[in-house]
Amino acid sequence: MALVFYSDSDRFEPWRDALTAAVPDLEVRNWDEAGDPAEIDFALVWLPPQGALQRFPNLKAILNLGAGVDALLKDPSLPKGVPIVRMVDDDLAKCMAEYVLLHVLRCHREQPALDAQQRAKQWRIVASPAACHRRVGVMGLGAMGGEAARHLLAVGFDVASWTRSAKPMPGVEGFHGAEGLAPFLARTEILVCLLPLTAETRGILDRDLFRGLPRGAYLINAGRGGHQVEADILQALDEGQLAGATLDVFATEPLPADSPFWTHPKVTVTPHNASITNPHSAVRHVVESIRRVRAGEPLRNVVDPAVGY
Ligand code: GLV
Repeated sequence: MALVFYSDSDRFEPWRDALTAAVPDLEVRNWDEAGDPAEIDFALVWLPPQGALQRFPNLKAILNLGAGVDALLKDPSLPKGVPIVRMVDDDLAKCMAEYVLLHVLRCHREQPALDAQQRAKQWRIVASPAACHRRVGVMGLGAMGGEAARHLLAVGFDVASWTRSAKPMPGVEGFHGAEGLAPFLARTEILVCLLPLTAETRGILDRDLFRGLPRGAYLINAGRGGHQVEADILQALDEGQLAGATLDVFATEPLPADSPFWTHPKVTVTPHNASITNPHSAVRHVVESIRRVRAGEPLRNVVDPAVGY
């Protein structure tokens, strides 16, 4: 059995070592040394070039190295009928939840304004309410959003969620569907986007949505750049409708040097590193998928291309 590996960054060796330690009879080949395409059973990939996967005629599963599969699904030549498995891993979700908690707390305690005061040697006390009086709204309650909501609840925030269909979670006020969006936004002071990127959610973070938030709300987007209309974010910041934005994802990545986000005083930029799949914890999911294919058992976390995640 052979697996081919592709990632946009250099992480072949740790994955090869982790996989061969767990499945000694699996040959793990890097993309440029894939050998005979007919020998490849599995592709473990992150952002492979468009059209690249169709050259493996005997592929049994495409295993995505990350949680989001929007980039994969954009490829019209994906081999038909080959299941795509999303990465669902505890550490991946926990790292995302830490990112959300860090930046929600920064907004909640108005740390960006305090940082600016420090640079200006300004002593001005800014009082923040206790977390239970801060209303945080999480869009998307999947593996990532669910863990983020649990972390926020543990600190005592007043948490609501907005999802495509009803998704009850204890302690979280749930809103869903088109009719649930306006009341969700109206009560949300810190908005966290962890939605999958689909035809329905593309461009959802736009001017109309920001207008639905209370004036001076914060935006944290660790979903996808495709969720946000970047010109609308800048306008909402400049008009004061948004007090600040923390963005981990962008329409173009790496973020171009001339992007106004880099230097905007109300924007925090992180380089799409809110949560990165780590072979030490995630290898077991890849191994389990391989075991299931070999045993003829159904795969878990299979993507539904019709829904988009
Ligand atoms: C990262 O963006 C992921 O989808 O895991």
